[in-house]
Amino acid sequence: MELQNWTRALVAVTLLTLASAALDDYFDLPGPYCRDRGCCPGRQDDCSVPILGNNEVVFDEGTLCYCDDFCNRTRNEDCCPDFWPHCKGIMPPEIPGPILGCTYEGIVYPVNKVVKRNCNDCKCTAISNTTAEMLCEQNACIVDPMIIDFVNNNYGVGWTASNYSEFWGRKLEEGIKLRLGTLQPQRFVMRMTPVRRIYDPHSFPREFDSEMKWPGFITHVQDQGWCGSSWAISTAAVASDRFAILSKGRERITLSAQHLISCDRRGQQSCNGGYLDRAWSYIRKFGLVDEDCFPYTASNEKCRVPRHGDLLTAKCRLPQFVDRKSKYKVAPAYRIGNETDIMFEILNSGPVQATIKVYHDFFTYKGGIYKHSSVSPDDRTGYHSIRIVGWGEEYTSEGLRKYWKVANSWGPAWGENGYFRIIRGVDECEIESFVLGTWPEIENKLLLQNEIPRVNI
Ligand SMILES: *[C@@H]1O[C@H](CO)[C@@H](O)[C@H](O)[C@H]1NC(C)=O
Ligand SMILES: *[C@@H]1O[C@H](CO)[C@@H](O)[C@H](O)[C@H]1NC(C)=O
Ligand SMILES: *[C@@H]1O[C@H](CO)[C@@H](O)[C@H](O)[C@H]1NC(C)=O
Ligand SMILES: *[C@@H]1O[C@H](CO)[C@@H](O)[C@H](O)[C@H]1NC(C)=O
Repeated sequence: MELQNWTRALVAVTLLTLASAALDDYFDLPGPYCRDRGCCPGRQDDCSVPILGNNEVVFDEGTLCYCDDFCNRTRNEDCCPDFWPHCKGIMPPEIPGPILGCTYEGIVYPVNKVVKRNCNDCKCTAISNTTAEMLCEQNACIVDPMIIDFVNNNYGVGWTASNYSEFWGRKLEEGIKLRLGTLQPQRFVMRMTPVRRIYDPHSFPREFDSEMKWPGFITHVQDQGWCGSSWAISTAAVASDRFAILSKGRERITLSAQHLISCDRRGQQSCNGGYLDRAWSYIRKFGLVDEDCFPYTASNEKCRVPRHGDLLTAKCRLPQFVDRKSKYKVAPAYRIGNETDIMFEILNSGPVQATIKVYHDFFTYKGGIYKHSSVSPDDRTGYHSIRIVGWGEEYTSEGLRKYWKVANSWGPAWGENGYFRIIRGVDECEIESFVLGTWPEIENKLLLQNEIPRVNI
């Protein structure tokens, strides 16, 4: 009976010693130290035995274990492994188990501690009773320092990248889902024939900016927030620009993107994206109210546009230059075919709507002429719609580069005051593939003052 207990105790001692080993790199070998030594009761400072470690080296004078009552005066750590069973006939008292921790970036964290590294959680996780490890999620983050380094250290790239605190800590997946929000046009829409135009491209200026030509008429850069609504924002903004330009400033209006997000629900996904052709047909059929009437909330909130008769009492603006006063409507949107056609359109009618394929590196664009660099190992992409407001060209280390000037919807702190420039004429990121314009519904005598022929698709 006694012996059996002792054997169990010895096993326990062995396990405990093993347990503290992980942190100490070595552990004491079990053995009949006190049994062979013989002393036990009272305080006997010389009642010690040299002890072996697991690396089989006999330690110097300092590494002794004790078999007298005083061996556990501190942490029980210099008692010989068989002190308790041999001298006291009992199991060793509970000693605090090894404190498991994870050393990570030079700091020790306790088990279960979670620290955030960019968009990933890292948790100090116990792998076994004796080891713990920092385990990190492996999501691609919107801001990837590796992309920033690459872009900023390779002149040939043509643009610079920056860390945006709004994007830091967010997964790439969230960026694609909630910072873009344009569904790729369905095939029948892509087959829309572009309108044909007749012009002399040599007569175009080398640089053009809608904001210079029509100061005060062009919608400011907006911030869509964490809502995949670029389909609604770019549509409302292009329509607003066109109202101001084609009315020669008499109808300056900011149309409500929230109206589209909340009310144009057929086949559309609100903050999870929408189709541009459907947005345009909605405005053609039902019209939009102005921004103050239904302000942007970056959410899928309920459609709450006042009834026709209540628009005025609700302080919503009504179009001034139509006979039947209702909401702001447009004629069917039309497609614009190629680089020079797009330039002609902007020059004569104002900003156009375009769709781009957004790659990982685009989120960190800070300035310069963007061109997709395939530095990111993550090839996920999404579609985004924006407003092309002008163009230009610039001499770079790579020679003359032609670009589009484009308004994004990520607020004025992003890119070049909310805008970006992107290579023109090579369908970079598909930007020239699906470009749309529209004609606002305003009175004919205003339209007659514009020379542009009205062309629908
Ligand atoms: C050994 O340690 C235990 C627990 O810390 C304590 O209760 C006991 O009095 C100690 N024994 C001696 C002989 O110091
Ligand atoms: C680890 O600890 C648990 C609970 O204390 C115990 O049941 C298990 O046997 C231990 N495993 C090892 C390898 O020591
Ligand atoms: C990026 O910005 C965030 C917030 O401003 C900051 O905490 C983070 O350390 C920055 N990351 C890099 C790589 O500069
Ligand atoms: C674009 O299309 C028009 C016809 O609409 C054509 O006259 C023009 O040459 C084309 N431009 C380019 C750059 O392909």
